[in-house]
Amino acid sequence: MHNELCESLGIEFPIFAFTHCRDVAAAVSRAGGMGVLGALAFSPEQLEIELSWIDEHVDGKPYGVDVVMPVKSLDRDAGLHDAKDLAEQLRAMISPDHWDYVGKILADHGIPDEAEEEPDDDSPLGRGVLGWTEATGTPLIDIALGHPIKLLASALGPPPAEAIDQAHAQGVTVAALVGRVEQAVRDVQQGVDVVIAQGYEAGGHTGDVGTMVLVPDVVDAIAPTPVLAAGGIGTGRQMAAAMALGAAGVWTGSIWLTVAESDMTPVAMEKLLAARSSDTVRSRAMTGKPARQLRTDWTEAWEAPESPGTLPMPLQFILHSHAMRRAARVGNTDLVGMPVGQIVSRMDKVRTAKQVIYDLVEEYLEVTERMHRRVSEG
Ligand SMILES: Cc1cc2nc3c(=O)[nH]c(=O)nc-3n(C[C@H](O)[C@H](O)[C@H](O)COP(=O)(O)O)c2cc1C
Repeated sequence: MHNELCESLGIEFPIFAFTHCRDVAAAVSRAGGMGVLGALAFSPEQLEIELSWIDEHVDGKPYGVDVVMPVKSLDRDAGLHDAKDLAEQLRAMISPDHWDYVGKILADHGIPDEAEEEPDDDSPLGRGVLGWTEATGTPLIDIALGHPIKLLASALGPPPAEAIDQAHAQGVTVAALVGRVEQAVRDVQQGVDVVIAQGYEAGGHTGDVGTMVLVPDVVDAIAPTPVLAAGGIGTGRQMAAAMALGAAGVWTGSIWLTVAESDMTPVAMEKLLAARSSDTVRSRAMTGKPARQLRTDWTEAWEAPESPGTLPMPLQFILHSHAMRRAARVGNTDLVGMPVGQIVSRMDKVRTAKQVIYDLVEEYLEVTERMHRRVSEG
């Protein structure tokens, strides 16, 4: 299990944990895996605080940061390169029909949709624009590279060329998530060191090819570049399967949502612990790009015949965050979902992050030994 990739990154087990929660990231790294903090929902100032906290709580163990750098997004197409007035310019692109439809969804749930009040936080983040625009994502990379990170990962596209060069100059390994073989080939050509092949089962933005098919295809296409398998991995058996497909390690996301260190609200935690695999859906309703998440009245509404259709990233999330703020205000939970993968059915009890790592490792060793025995006993 301890392989070349572990050696180069200074970790004990090739288990990578994507999380938005600094406590989880630090706990995974301390337990011998690699905690990777998702930077998407932080302002640069807040990311600086989170990473300084991790630096103090990780006992010198390696950790990483993940950003989202869409190859295709509306802000790029429209030439919006500046964070100033970004939220306003994006809002101006949303048609009245879409606002009306959000109003109708809210009304159907008895949620008042008064005129938009002034948000407490007038930054792009406060206005529903996360770090997935060029203007909001690039500063997050600068902050991340100001900390002693070992890994810089990027979703929906590789980091910009300058960021890859800077990361390499600082000895930081660069990884990128892909859902197709062609994306893996492109990313390696652009200087990415580790490819994360993420299958259909996964929580969050995901493609339409299953992990079982995607991983060996990516492994073969970009050998000898190391590949991490992602999507549907939550047990040692699944980890063993991923390694058998040729992966150098596993990249996991969903299973960290229900660990003891997670900052999930009690309502979200309850929903996750109760959910089965078939309670997730791959939908554009949250961000505008297909993302696996819990099926909710919100995802259903955007599938309904009267739906005007989802908007492209990053506009759809502006509608989503508008609606979720209003739902939260009146305590409505029917519309509230979250990204999570099909592995959610296995997430039925709360364990510490350290226990999750140990359970993965223990079952992995058990199952690989059992398979060896079967082969040698003929
Ligand atoms: C709540 C949640 C949020 C996610 N957000 C991101 C993100 O911001 N950036 C990213 O690279 N991947 C994100 N992902 C995907 C994970 O990095 C990972 O690839 C995926 O969870 C693996 O599949 P699994 O959910 O079956 O473990 C997210 C996943 C979840 C569950």
